[in-house]
Amino acid sequence: MITTYIFDLDGVIVDTAKYHYLAWKKLADELEIDFTHEHNELLKGVSRVRSLEIILKLGKKEILTSDFERFLIQKNEDYLKYIDKMDASEILPDVLGKLKFIKSINGKIVLGSASKNAKPILQKVGLIEFFDAIVDGNDVSKAKPDPEVFLIGAQKVNVNPLECVVFEDAVAGIQAANIAGMLSIGIGDKATLNEADYIFTDFTQITNEFLQNLENN
Ligand code: G6P
Ligand code: MG
Repeated sequence: MITTYIFDLDGVIVDTAKYHYLAWKKLADELEIDFTHEHNELLKGVSRVRSLEIILKLGKKEILTSDFERFLIQKNEDYLKYIDKMDASEILPDVLGKLKFIKSINGKIVLGSASKNAKPILQKVGLIEFFDAIVDGNDVSKAKPDPEVFLIGAQKVNVNPLECVVFEDAVAGIQAANIAGMLSIGIGDKATLNEADYIFTDFTQITNEFLQNLENN
């Protein structure tokens, strides 16, 4: 029986990829690395450290460890300037409706995100109160597709992984959910997310009946 609904953050609850892009782009420009929107796709669901490694590889640049740390800080400071301006209008379509419905059927709601900025973002958009547990980039040592983030989430609300469903927009996130033994729901492109148990373009495509039936699974 499904009792617990685990949400990824970036690309599922809010579209922060555009802000990550702007902050990475500024750094890439400074380093004279060509960084496009297509490149940005490679960074979805990927940790901050790994993202910088990917960008440096794109530009075939090698840098000092001290510069690497400095660039991570600089990128995050720029990213936080965008986050600071976020409000409820940035919640993706029908996410709020689904969170309310899950509460109404007494489902547990958990966040499972790679982002170290997850809590401030949830606060900014006014959704933090919905979450029974939050697991973010500060709590995990292994990145998705490792299932750690979701397994800790299940543990935090004292449920078996088999009782959990995961909403994810990144392939690595779907793989992590599958490895954890959880039901996986892809939010986004059907072809990209084909390893998911179910795929929807966005939450407006998911009915309350569908969620209710999952509960009875
Ligand atoms: C999410 C995003 C990634 C981002 C990662 C770390 O997984 O999809 O694009 O790199 O979180 O985010 P952070 O806020 O800690 O830099
Ligand atoms: Mg995501």
